[in-house]
Amino acid sequence: MTPSLWREILRRKSVDAIKAQSDEDTGPRLHRVLDSRDVFNHGVAAIIGTGIFVLTGVAAANTAGPGIILSFVLAALACAFVSFAYAEQASMIPVSGSAYTYAYATLGELFAWIIGWDLLLEYAVGASAVASGWSAYMQIVLKGLGLHLPAYLSVAPASLPVGHVVATVALLLAGIFCFARTVGSRSDATSGSRASVWLYRMLALALMGFGAAFGLDTYKHLTSVDLPAVLIVAFINFWLIKGVKHTAKMTSVFVVIKLAVVLFFIAVGAFHIDTANYSPFLPFGWSGVLTGAGVVFFAFIGFDAVTTLSEECKDPQKDVPKGVIGSLVVCTILYVLVAAVMTGAISYSMLGGTSEGAPMAKVLDHIGLTWATPLVSVGAIAGITSVLIVLLYGQSRIMMRMAKDGLVSPVFGKVSERFRTPVWSIVVWGLIVALSAGLVPIGELAELTSIGTLFAFVIVCIGVIVLRRTEPDRPRGFRCPGYPYVPVLGALLSLILMLSLPGITWLRFGIWMAIGIVVYALYSRQHSRLRK
Ligand code: ALA
Repeated sequence: MTPSLWREILRRKSVDAIKAQSDEDTGPRLHRVLDSRDVFNHGVAAIIGTGIFVLTGVAAANTAGPGIILSFVLAALACAFVSFAYAEQASMIPVSGSAYTYAYATLGELFAWIIGWDLLLEYAVGASAVASGWSAYMQIVLKGLGLHLPAYLSVAPASLPVGHVVATVALLLAGIFCFARTVGSRSDATSGSRASVWLYRMLALALMGFGAAFGLDTYKHLTSVDLPAVLIVAFINFWLIKGVKHTAKMTSVFVVIKLAVVLFFIAVGAFHIDTANYSPFLPFGWSGVLTGAGVVFFAFIGFDAVTTLSEECKDPQKDVPKGVIGSLVVCTILYVLVAAVMTGAISYSMLGGTSEGAPMAKVLDHIGLTWATPLVSVGAIAGITSVLIVLLYGQSRIMMRMAKDGLVSPVFGKVSERFRTPVWSIVVWGLIVALSAGLVPIGELAELTSIGTLFAFVIVCIGVIVLRRTEPDRPRGFRCPGYPYVPVLGALLSLILMLSLPGITWLRFGIWMAIGIVVYALYSRQHSRLRK
């Protein structure tokens, strides 16, 4: 690569330019309607969900034993360091793109693109996985009411070749892209450019042909669909289109319900703790604690999503840092208490087994409170719904910011005159998430969400260090304490948690990132607004 190409793809956007661009954006703007309570609610809404209602039991039984309490502490410590880094950058750059925007200001365009692409894993893949969890809990409730969904409407097809789906979409998109480049070519063009037009058309045909072949092969495997997962994603997107204040109201209701259920569980379970259950405390050793931290990290994902609210807050420089740190602190305390009660009230080995999905219900059954178990399902459904709202919301806002920077199609940046929301971004990503939640056996992809999020955390921590050097005098509404140790430790702990994830997750992550680099080279680099 030539030095000028390096300079081009690592060009940075100054903090002033980012803020000015946000002020100058033409067309309808997002509404600044949220206050600090809304922001805190949004954080709690994003954090408490599948992780605590499902994964805690699985991780305690299979990887950490009662040491899961320490796994939570370890994961929380990493998140705490990172939350300070997020808070500092959010207080300097109150724009809605979260880690993507911060990377643009600190490490340059290529890294910003990589993070934006990577955040798709946290938000879109995460939302698909969470929607599948929602469907599982909903079906438990429906069964309790005597309603059984037919098998072909209740679950994603088990054997759908995910690689083929990705290849189909990638090849078709690449084919359309090649063809689009030839549209509008002039009839009086030189013979050289006419030849390149034909070359592009042949390439487009070949790519689309391969795409169609993969598609046909995939079609054979479409034997069922997870209908509840599709419907919940569609429903939430409908609310998101209507506006952020509507969504905030709905989110607050879910937050109250899930907090009530979690507090009820802690209060009731605490009286049934038998300290004998804590021995042995580390049946899988310290390595089990570390692996457990990698698993339960999923439960913390979401505190960073608060930063996607910046452009809709009344006072983002103050409210966003408070929201990020406050929601993380509250949820950490609750998680540690839930883990202590869970592993204290029942032997950790009983938290796994056939109905792994509902560890809290198992504990309540064990202590004789069978009547309370439906409560857990209600709490889980409320909790998971609010996580979905925040993830889908965050996805649309990050895409909107990337579109305004020219790195993805401008369609994603259009804010509707009527609703003041980025309607196209919500609709297109809503459709993609709904389809993948309904059709892709998403379980195996859930770890991708964690690795993608942790990678963004590493970049955000490095970003704080870079900005302290490049812009030391710029006013910061919040300063990361313990600098430089806190961001360095945040990055290191995130890296350690990434390393605790399985090799196959790394492989998938690598493939995802490689696709992202190709998209950048073929589209984003040329269309970058900064370049123009
Ligand atoms: N933290 C969110 C959950 O546990 C992603 O569902």
